[in-house]
Amino acid sequence: MQKTKKSKFMIASGLAISMLVASGIACAEDDSMDGKKLYQGNCASCHGMNGEPTEMGKSLKPFAARNHRAIAQYVSRDELRRIITYGVKGTAMEAKKYTLDPLQIDAVIDFIKTFEYEPDLANGKARFEAVCVQCHGVDGRAQTGVGAKNLIYTKLGLEEIVHTMRYGRPGTLMDSKRHQLSNPDIADVANYVYSLRYNADHKKGKILFKENCQSCHSTAKGIKLISNAASSQTLSEIDDHTLDLRIRHGRHVHKAGKHVNKLSSDEIQDIIAYIRDELK
Ligand code: HEC
Ligand code: HEC
Ligand code: HEC
Repeated sequence: MQKTKKSKFMIASGLAISMLVASGIACAEDDSMDGKKLYQGNCASCHGMNGEPTEMGKSLKPFAARNHRAIAQYVSRDELRRIITYGVKGTAMEAKKYTLDPLQIDAVIDFIKTFEYEPDLANGKARFEAVCVQCHGVDGRAQTGVGAKNLIYTKLGLEEIVHTMRYGRPGTLMDSKRHQLSNPDIADVANYVYSLRYNADHKKGKILFKENCQSCHSTAKGIKLISNAASSQTLSEIDDHTLDLRIRHGRHVHKAGKHVNKLSSDEIQDIIAYIRDELK
């Protein structure tokens, strides 16, 4: 009697376990959350299964479908989520919030994020020379007098450079390049710009400081900004661009004279790197 009860129980629990296992398998096979399949069913007809637009996608008006391969690593999830959820008004890119739920959109983004792209720096240079140098200069130092930023000293990362190129800076001459350049061109130019970056050397800066500044400023930390009635700031509160201006054009220049005037802008970047290091 005892025995049969026990074996019945075992059979029952065995059954329950196998049902659990079966439903677990059913869950794993449910592909409503499979980013690749969702992409295939909802996006690939225009954007291509490998992220490169199809012939149909390329023929769309007013704007062709864009390459995902080239932006996958440079556009944030938040931005992708916004575009996919709300679409792009006036284009074939419709809002997907009616067909995909937020988790499915995230699954599609996971799939897009698997795309890889090898930037072409030679193309980046060619496109930079065609589209950017009028304001940023051939060397990227922006000595053109239109208020463009020096791209050699910029602190922006690749994603932020791409974002600036895609959307521009409203209210300035820097306008959106999204419809002037393809996504591969944007990725190539961004990587080229990134490759131009001047890597300031704090060790050189230390030597330059000793030679040109120490006679009056015994330590970098001890430098006091000349304040005005409206504000008094410390060195660590101002950004590198402002510090560069203070060194180059600050009131001390009439005393420091040739110590400051003979320095190149790269040397000033080195000194700033040294000052920042000392402030840490
Ligand atoms: C009917 C064609 C079509 C389908 C289907 C489609 N898109 Fe688009 N998509 C476009 C077009 C056209 C654009 C370009 C809009 C523009 O130029 O602003 C675009 C733009 C985008 C962008 C912005 C790219 C960029 O560089 O700015 C993203 C991201 C995007 N689509 C994702 C998706 C995803 C994810 C799906 C599927 C869930 C999808 N699209 C389905 C046509 C389509
Ligand atoms: C018509 C002039 C003009 C052209 C052409 C132009 N830019 Fe700009 N760019 C500007 C201006 C002006 C700013 C400064 C905007 C501001 O004050 O924030 C700027 C800022 C930037 C910044 C932000 C830098 C930072 O540190 O904040 C980047 C990156 C940039 N441009 C990249 C490019 C690239 C790449 C191209 C070519 C594809 C380009 N720009 C073409 C005028 C231009
Ligand atoms: C001949 C003396 C002298 C030399 C050399 C000198 N400075 Fe100064 N500097 C001053 C004086 C004086 C001030 C005014 C503030 C004070 O009294 O501390 C000042 C102020 C500054 C300020 C604040 C400027 C402002 O507008 O707020 C900075 C930044 C600075 N110095 C950096 C440097 C650096 C970097 C060097 C070396 C490249 C240097 N100085 C060389 C005398 C000098």
